[in-house]
Amino acid sequence: MEDEVEEKPASKKSVRKRADEIAPFRCKNLIAVIENPSDVKNIGTVIRNVNALGVEKVYVVDPRRSLPDDWQELRERKSVSKTSVSAVKWTFVRRFDSTDDCFDHLEKKGFKSVVTSPHVKGKSCIFLHEGDFTRHAKLAVWFGSEAIGISERAVERSEMCVSIPMFGMIESLNLGTSSGIVLYEVAKQRREYQSTFRMRGRRGERAHPLPTVIAPEVEETS
Ligand SMILES: C[S@@+](CC[C@H](N)C(=O)[O-])C[C@H]1O[C@@H](n2cnc3c(N)ncnc32)[C@H](O)[C@@H]1O
Repeated sequence: MEDEVEEKPASKKSVRKRADEIAPFRCKNLIAVIENPSDVKNIGTVIRNVNALGVEKVYVVDPRRSLPDDWQELRERKSVSKTSVSAVKWTFVRRFDSTDDCFDHLEKKGFKSVVTSPHVKGKSCIFLHEGDFTRHAKLAVWFGSEAIGISERAVERSEMCVSIPMFGMIESLNLGTSSGIVLYEVAKQRREYQSTFRMRGRRGERAHPLPTVIAPEVEETS
């Protein structure tokens, strides 16, 4: 299965080159939070999405203690490394014992939170395409567990709930797919903001916007 194959090791030089190339595109102060996931494969998929889309970090609310506290240990854990296709090597992941612990930490650091759900939850609920995800300099986007979804506590402590519009007979998308869709939109908006403004509050407009995508390398043909 393609998904579970580790990517080929790259040379140190090409890794450094790629790291330098992607650094300006990373969305600063954007964190994806997974609340109480039960399947390690989904944790790996979210880490992969986070890494691929240039989101800064992943927090996992993990009351079952399925992940180690130490990041180094987590990076070396085969189940996560395999399902994230090694993205865990390049992505900061931190675990928390409870939803409240995670919110306390985020709020202390000045982060605002939004939760995601296929259902209408809380006082304010929007569709993904209606959201302006650049209003807060520091933003955490929460995803709920596979079976139960986002908790009432997370809804209570967050600013709003974001839904991906659905048109089928099924109740919800899976965690991996929905995190990919939501984070793509949020990261795209925030990269556009970073490319235009140097500071918060739409201040420090750049004379020339920075690129928002990495130009693809043209392969030489002989
Ligand atoms: C498999 S779903 C959970 C389904 C659960 N029965 C519920 O009521 O939410 C796992 C997570 O994916 C995200 N998700 C799934 N479908 C979504 C949608 N249409 N819009 C926004 N988020 C969605 C949410 O974070 C949800 O908690």
